[in-house]
Amino acid sequence: MTAADLAAVVAIERQNPGPWNASHLADELKQPLSWQWLARTADTDRVIGYIIGRTVADEAEILRLAVDANHRRRGVAQQLLQHTFTELRRSGTLTCFLELRVSNIVARRLYEKNGFQSIGIRYNYYQSPDEDAFVMTKSLQDKGASP
Ligand SMILES: CC(C)(COP(=O)(O)OP(=O)(O)OC[C@H]1O[C@@H](n2cnc3c(N)ncnc32)[C@H](O)[C@@H]1OP(=O)(O)O)[C@@H](O)C(=O)NCCC(=O)NCCS
Repeated sequence: MTAADLAAVVAIERQNPGPWNASHLADELKQPLSWQWLARTADTDRVIGYIIGRTVADEAEILRLAVDANHRRRGVAQQLLQHTFTELRRSGTLTCFLELRVSNIVARRLYEKNGFQSIGIRYNYYQSPDEDAFVMTKSLQDKGASP
């Protein structure tokens, strides 16, 4: 992700509650511990999804993952996660964490399918609207971990 991608990413952010704005995203790009990957259409190269996270020592946290509403249910998020796991394993990361809104059943299904487990709740973690968060984690080093 570069500054040139921010308009497309902001447009997708705005489809979901509590969107990050361009300034917040630009700040994230400057963070040395941050990583980001984009999904683009093969024909037009248009940005249709992205994942953003940070790694500190051997622990990573997924901060954002979203797919354009017109391109959902086609495996885009699955590909973004697979790529993320491959890269994190390559860099020696042991564990991946994330938070998600307790009402976000779709994302919970996605993460459970990818081997994440709920380990707790952060009360009133989100604003606009106010909501609790599930904390989920996945080991990246277990040989039997799926996928
Ligand atoms: C969550 C989100 C990223 C999924 O993106 P996607 O590209 O549509 O997901 P995929 O097509 O890769 O689906 C992978 C798996 O996720 C789950 N899933 C995705 N959409 C689902 C839906 N509408 N209902 C139930 N499960 C769903 C399924 O387990 C699916 O596997 P399957 O196709 O074998 O059933 C997308 O819905 C989104 O951008 N939502 C808004 C932002 C958000 O909630 N981000 C996560 C917060 S941390």
